[in-house]
Amino acid sequence: MDILTVNLGNRSYDIVIGSGILSGIGEKMRQMRFSPKVCVISNPAVFSLYGDTVMSSLEEAYLECFHVLIPDGEEYKNFQQSYHVVTELLGNKLDRQSCLVALGGGVIGDLTGFVASVYMRGIHFVQLPTTLLAQVDSSVGGKTGVNHHLGKNMIGSFYQPRLVWIDTDTLRTLAQRQFLSGMAEVIKYGVIWDGSFFDYLMRKNQKIIGLDRDALRTIIKRSCQIKAAVVSQDEREEGMRAILNYGHTIGHAIETETNYTRFLHGEAVAIGMHLEARLSRILKIADDGTVSRIREMLDVYSLPSALPKDIQCNALFKHMSLDKKTLEGQMKFIIPEQIGKVRIQTGVHPDDIKEALNPA
Ligand code: NAD
Ligand code: GLY
Repeated sequence: MDILTVNLGNRSYDIVIGSGILSGIGEKMRQMRFSPKVCVISNPAVFSLYGDTVMSSLEEAYLECFHVLIPDGEEYKNFQQSYHVVTELLGNKLDRQSCLVALGGGVIGDLTGFVASVYMRGIHFVQLPTTLLAQVDSSVGGKTGVNHHLGKNMIGSFYQPRLVWIDTDTLRTLAQRQFLSGMAEVIKYGVIWDGSFFDYLMRKNQKIIGLDRDALRTIIKRSCQIKAAVVSQDEREEGMRAILNYGHTIGHAIETETNYTRFLHGEAVAIGMHLEARLSRILKIADDGTVSRIREMLDVYSLPSALPKDIQCNALFKHMSLDKKTLEGQMKFIIPEQIGKVRIQTGVHPDDIKEALNPA
């Protein structure tokens, strides 16, 4: 088992990573002395796979638990479902000492964290992430939220979990496309922070794609270390946390333009990472080799890197200018200087952005 810590003073918490550790969650929560009342929030697909293991573990540890399921899908990460969860919590008399447990991917984690942050002005919550994306990104760092019909993640809070408990074996039931989409966020950490990790991802690609236990543990641990280091320095994205958005300025615009139906999040971010690297070359910051290495890595993990021809560059441009990361009309790009180092760039000329977006 690997244990990392997100250092945030009295809101610090551990990230525990291991294979086959799901059944140990009850004992861990008992040791942490949470009040005995616990509610597990999940969706029917994930709960049918892992609900029994988690519920029996909690019950064996003398925790009084029940569960609430929300339908599977991004479209249910909304205010109505949060309201429904709150109704169930009130009906089951959860008090201010109680704890929520998010069992699922980023949708469940974001919604559970949001409910935990507002229920009775805030109760504890624990993340049990079951997708690669959630294990390396969304379960760590305390960004919680739900979508509004006018924009994704527009209702939310910064609210940290008390524990992140990652069982890497849960990835064995995940669809391969979902796994590879999560790999985009793993590759991101290599580009923004650690060139030798980037090399590892290239060297061990077959083992990683084949879900080799040691390789999985290595990539999840390193990703969480990097995320924890960034969040510990800038919890509320007032400065350097923005580097975690590498690939996301363009990626989010692609997701919006395609109504969140054509690409998974990591796939859109993959295209964004390549195009933002191209922007860096246009600005004479990154060299050709850096851009090619990023594109080759995306190819190796069967991730897209090119903008489909039917997506209009002007439409993306419009979405980017409306993004919540855009301040006073200034779009913010995270651009690689080399593999392992990025910078935050504003004031980019629209012609340079359009050149990066336009397929060569
Ligand atoms: P998801 O939660 O929708 O999960 C993807 C699919 O995999 C779902 O159908 C789910 O039921 C299924 N699934 C989950 N675990 C499984 C398993 N072990 N076996 C089989 N099937 C499984 O998607 P996601 O990619 O995990 O998360 C996307 C969400 O995360 C988005 O809403 C995004 O906004 C959010 N996000 C949040 C942050 C953050 O910092 N809070 C960061 C990145 C993304
Ligand atoms: N996923 C980006 C962040 O957590 O800041």
